[in-house]
Amino acid sequence: MTIRKNKKESIVNHPTANIMMLDKIQSLLQEVENLTANSAEEIEQLRIKYLSKKGAITALMADFRNVPVEQKKEIGIKINELKDKAQEKINALRDAFAVQETDANHLDITRTAYPIGLGTRHPLTIVKNEIIDIFSRLGFSLAEGPEVEDDWHVFSSMNFADDHPARDMQDTFFVESHPDIILRTHTSSVQARVMEKQQPPVRVICPGRVYRNEAISARAHCFFHQVEGLYVDEKVSFTDLKQVLLLFAKEMFGEDTQIRLRPSYFPFTEPSAEMDVSCTLCKGKGCNMCKGSGWLEILGCGMVHPNVLEANGIDSTKYKGYAFGMGIERITNLKYQVKDLRLFSENDVRFLKEFEAAN
Ligand code: DAH
Repeated sequence: MTIRKNKKESIVNHPTANIMMLDKIQSLLQEVENLTANSAEEIEQLRIKYLSKKGAITALMADFRNVPVEQKKEIGIKINELKDKAQEKINALRDAFAVQETDANHLDITRTAYPIGLGTRHPLTIVKNEIIDIFSRLGFSLAEGPEVEDDWHVFSSMNFADDHPARDMQDTFFVESHPDIILRTHTSSVQARVMEKQQPPVRVICPGRVYRNEAISARAHCFFHQVEGLYVDEKVSFTDLKQVLLLFAKEMFGEDTQIRLRPSYFPFTEPSAEMDVSCTLCKGKGCNMCKGSGWLEILGCGMVHPNVLEANGIDSTKYKGYAFGMGIERITNLKYQVKDLRLFSENDVRFLKEFEAAN
């Protein structure tokens, strides 16, 4: 048998050609699977190396012509798989590189970060803080007491007669089976909490939530917020009270705000008064908000009743005091014209967002 001495002799004619071809396919397959590239140019080099007319896979296909018929099927399938794999790999490298490129083009590392949306303070908190701030500049410190209180601190020590209507079931929430334990109906109870522990001079403001058994509507709620003020010392007069409240009104509603005091009645003060401020909307000319009067009621106040001082262990012959109490919702309504009390407890973010600027 003569062996053809052809320079271009195919490996397929070799007795072990089939095995060698399969090995070659296998090793190319592995090479292809591990391909990586760092630029479009490198990817093109790989395509040329494997898939161009002079590429390694194309050369294999040329050899395929010489594969004996009975092996064509097996080797043909493998070569096609290799070719598909190589094409897939190169496409994948192209895709990945294209994504990287666009990312790189659009990435501006000097750009400021997206702002993180912080929440806003509740309008009642904003106003409460403002009230605290004004009074702390006048030397008042903060005091707090429990919302679930006993009858003594809310009523008896505050000089409420046993048959006072405020003790009535219709006003007060009672803790079932404990008629002595109630939800405080006003922050005046904190006056008692402070005085029983501290001898004068006492100068505190007491913000907090209070509860009343009322039907919920635009103008009434079963809970709301108050700030109580108390000053007890040796020489405290009604004039001091009036000056402090005038200063508060000017700080809260503006320098041109005026106040007026009308005689009133509270069990825990004598004399007692209610204070109005000149209308925050029409500045006293008369409008819808002040019902044409030019004045808006904002708080109750008076000189601490001697019975209250004595009930709380303070010598009423030596000390005098003044007290005042205001609703935070009321002040907030007047400042921001909130028409419906229910908005304060619904927590609708659209409402809360309106106070962003005041935060
Ligand atoms: N406790 C009163 C209320 O809830 C408000 C009040 C009035 C408080 C007069 C006071 C005061 O300290 O002197 O309506």
